[in-house]
Amino acid sequence: MQKKQTTDKHALYLSSVQDPVSDVERISKIYSELFSKSAKSFREDFSGTFALSCCWVQSGDTRTAIAIDIDKETIEYGVNNYLKNLSSKEQSRLKTVVGNAITETSLVDIIGVFNFSYCLIHKREQLLDYFKKCLSSLNEQGMIILDIFGGSDSEILEIQEKDIDHHPAISPFLFQFERKSFNPITRISNYGIHFIYPDGTKLMDSFTYEFRMWTITEIRDLLEEAGFSKSLVYWEDFDDEGFGNGEFYQTEKEENSINWNAYIVGVR
Ligand SMILES: C[S@@+](CC[C@H](N)C(=O)[O-])C[C@H]1O[C@@H](n2cnc3c(N)ncnc32)[C@H](O)[C@@H]1O
Repeated sequence: MQKKQTTDKHALYLSSVQDPVSDVERISKIYSELFSKSAKSFREDFSGTFALSCCWVQSGDTRTAIAIDIDKETIEYGVNNYLKNLSSKEQSRLKTVVGNAITETSLVDIIGVFNFSYCLIHKREQLLDYFKKCLSSLNEQGMIILDIFGGSDSEILEIQEKDIDHHPAISPFLFQFERKSFNPITRISNYGIHFIYPDGTKLMDSFTYEFRMWTITEIRDLLEEAGFSKSLVYWEDFDDEGFGNGEFYQTEKEENSINWNAYIVGVR
């Protein structure tokens, strides 16, 4: 197949930073370890194109998902490019909402907030309020799961790069995640995602984010204050070259490193 230089930013993003099949496996495993049963209902807040929710409903005949994003174009992309590839039964178990995740109240087993979307909430009071709403939207055996990154290099201006060459239809390209600013007083950081083809064609700032870089401790304190019974941290292990290897384990003590990734789970 002829590989093409697509300008489809969502397709490039999916190949670069998302692995929804593995995410579903990891989330399912954490839930069943905590509650000794399989999770059924999943709510993807700040869902983007909701590839994760699509994989969720495909991972079990009774599994349901609700995906919420405030941006209509983003939800429509997911509907036209991912949802349409599901069977009609799978589609019937997935609901999409163009709306504000902060005010969503649908009752579920798991709420997932990925690619650091809660960092779009900058005020402590607002994040606390969101976590309270999440708690009241969880079934009795329910959990919220968030991802987080940090490390000694996470507060300096840098461009992280990754060669992406595994996609069957898209030409190989370079993925860049640029930290453009970090204000140590507010902990507000500005990021840009760029895609660069070997011939020099550049798609700069395909996505931009203004994140407040919350710490693990702050998030856990807020979950506790919101009323979650406990919170757990799952740390990503490293491969021989020091990169995250996709394996996560629960822990309470780690050495800092240049860059690390983790999940925080709040248990209702
Ligand atoms: C960092 S992206 C993450 C997308 C997706 N969760 C992922 O893992 O790739 C943040 C998303 O949140 C959406 N968003 C921002 N504010 C929102 C809000 N208040 N409610 C719902 N979605 C929101 C944006 O449109 C964007 O798609």
